[in-house]
This record gives sequence, structure tokens and C-alpha cells, in this order.
Amino acid sequence: MGGQMTTLTRMQDIDLSGRQVLVRVDYNVPKENGRIRDDTRIRESLPTIQYLLGQGCGIVLMSHFGRPAEYEGNRSDLSLRPVASRLEAIMKDEKLLEPSKHVIFLNNEASYGAANYHMLTPRLARVPYVVMLENTRFNEGEESNDPEFARLLGAYGDVYVNDAFASAHNKHASTLGVPQYFAKERKPVAAGLLMEREVTALQPLLKPKDRSVAVFGGSKAKDKLGVIKTLAGKYDEILVGGGLASTFLKAAGYDIGLSGYEEEFLDVARRLSVTMPVDARIGRGKAREAVYVYDVRFRNGSVDEGLSIFDIGNETVSLYAGIIAGADTVLWNGPMGVFERDEFSLGTQAVGKAVAQANARGAYAAAGGGDTIAALNKYGLSDRMSYISTGGGAMLKFLERDGNLPAIRVLYND
Ligand code: 3PG
Repeated sequence: MGGQMTTLTRMQDIDLSGRQVLVRVDYNVPKENGRIRDDTRIRESLPTIQYLLGQGCGIVLMSHFGRPAEYEGNRSDLSLRPVASRLEAIMKDEKLLEPSKHVIFLNNEASYGAANYHMLTPRLARVPYVVMLENTRFNEGEESNDPEFARLLGAYGDVYVNDAFASAHNKHASTLGVPQYFAKERKPVAAGLLMEREVTALQPLLKPKDRSVAVFGGSKAKDKLGVIKTLAGKYDEILVGGGLASTFLKAAGYDIGLSGYEEEFLDVARRLSVTMPVDARIGRGKAREAVYVYDVRFRNGSVDEGLSIFDIGNETVSLYAGIIAGADTVLWNGPMGVFERDEFSLGTQAVGKAVAQANARGAYAAAGGGDTIAALNKYGLSDRMSYISTGGGAMLKFLERDGNLPAIRVLYND
């Protein structure tokens, strides 16, 4: 996809003055006890919003939030209303919105559609304005990419801008159906500034140079095996840690005690050539309350029954840190252990520092994924990376598919 980069349609290439722009953002921000824990994704969308306001545009923002189809709690927990309030507060702080103005929130699912758009228009009358639609996943047509729902959403804009890189792996109405519909109608479709930045910044990872290392951790093998398979042929070394490593260790025949692994992926894991931990820190109990018990070396030891792996061990730390620090291209996604607990944080901290060291030496060192970002923040390493992606699953799929994600492809002008 390297050469195709130049063909991404940028919103700066379109005459937007005075138009109503429908912008897909990713405001799927982490919430804890009803409060937004981290508003990075909202802040990352500001450059696009600011640019559009500068063009005199009306802006209609749409995003998903959480997974309503799987959520067992009260559906209103997944409303985007608090996110609209936070956006309004941030925009006022940044002087992007006059104190008397509001981010107008459309709180009713039935509000999707042309009729409501027309009801809304006289209220807005003068551009610029900022509207936010309710959680797109409250409508079943979002995830099934229902063309009718895409058409209804499409009625909110004359131009479609996608700034939601973190959702680019989803073939949903708001990410794929709307731009496809716009393309058919010959209405403009473009990438926002964040989308453009992400696609550009991840290019060096698609064609890694010289000594290249990809480091994968986190809990699920299911989410990582696809990208590991693609990168196995491109990267010199793939290091695994975290819960993901347990599936590889099990596949290699080691006793891993109570550590979780994914039975259905053992065969795939056995066929992939990765570097596995040579030792681990073992504990008793459930992840976040686990108590440290002992260290084990896999070649001559095993994890006793009733105990689990919670971090990579000291020998693995030295091995991985040495490989990473000497690389020219480094990709890191997923912690090495339960880094929230001090006794199981060494692996993640050491890997983070080694990635920062590689960056300081001039390597292209990029990281992504929610937990990885949390770890980088915790250890004060965030400004020591070449790039940090806002995408977790999207970054992995982007790399797995060599940049060819339908929701991004539709923004190309070839
Ligand atoms: C994310 O947080 O990775 C994106 O918002 C995508 O969310 P999803 O995994 O629910 O599709």
C-alpha cells in the first residue's frame, strides 16, 4: 500500500466552505464508574474539527460507543451524551466554541434520518455548528452495515469525512456503508487529519527496514495470531509475552499450570515461528489480586498446578530488551504481564524502556493499543516513542492486511 498513500483523499483537497460535513470519529473512550477515564480520543479529533470550523462548515459527528449488542447493563450507560458534554468543555477550553454555544446532542435513536435532519436544519440555520449523534450501535443496522441505515446516516451531510482510524477494521454502516453510498451518489468522501496521520505514520511498519522486531503481549491470542502470521515473513524477530505467550508455551509442550490459553489456536501457534519467554514470574490467584510465588525457567522447570504466569522472567527481560534496543524498526502492542501489580510489572516496564532506547538510537519505534498506551503513560515513556497509534484492533488489522482495510480503501481516490 506504500505508493497508494499519496492517493488518500484528504479533506484539505475538497472545497468545504459552508458545507455540512458528516464526520465519523472514534469516541469509544474508556469509562470507569460512569466517568470518562481518558479523553485522548476526543482531543485527537480536535484538529479535524478545528479545520472544518475554519472552513465555515456545519459538523455532524457520529461514533459508536462500547458494544451494546453484548452489553448486559443499562443501555443508557452506553450513551454518547457524556462524551458530547466533554467535547463541549474541551472545545470551550481550547476556544473552539463560544461560551454561549453548545455541542448539540441528538439523543433519540429515532432521530436518525432525513426527516429529523430537516427538522434540525432550521435550528442550526447559521454555520458553523457542532452536532453529535447518539451511539451508532444503538441501531442494529450499524454493525450489519445495512444500506438503509447508511442512507439515513448519510442524510446528515453533504460531505463524509472519516477520522476514526481506531474503527477502520469495522465494516459497519458509519465506517463503510456511508462512504460507499456517498461514492455512488458522487458526493465527496475524504480522510480527516487523524486518519491521514495514522495511515502515514504506520507505513514504515508495513515495510520495516534493517533489523526489525515486533513485540506482542496482552491477553488474547485470537486477536494477535493473524497479524503475527503476516509479520512473520517480514520481521526479523517476533517476541511474545503476556497471556498471549501462554498459548505458544502450551503449544510447545510446556506445563503452564493454571495460565489461560486458547485451545483452538494451539495448532496455529505451533506453526508460527516466534521467540517465546524462556522464564516467567509465577503467582497464585486471579490476575489483579495475584500474589507472587516464584520464578520458573521453562527449559528445566514448570509451573506447578494451581499457579499461573503473570509476567516474563528476568532472563527473558534481558533477552527481549537486548533484541529490541538494537533494532531499527520496532512495533509494540500489548503488555508483557499484569503490570498494574508492581511484582508483575518488570517485563512491561523493561520492554517499554527498550523501545524508547531504540527510538533514541534513531529506530522507528511505534506502539499502539489501550493497555500499551496506559503502560507508556504509567512509566513516563509516551513522549519517547516515534509514534503512538490511537488504534488497538484497527492497528493490528491494518498491519495484518498490509494496509488494505475496506474502510480506508474507500477513502482512496483511485
Ligand atoms: C476500539 O476501541 O478499539 C475501537 O473503538 C473499536 O471498538 P470495537 O472493538 O468494539 O469495534
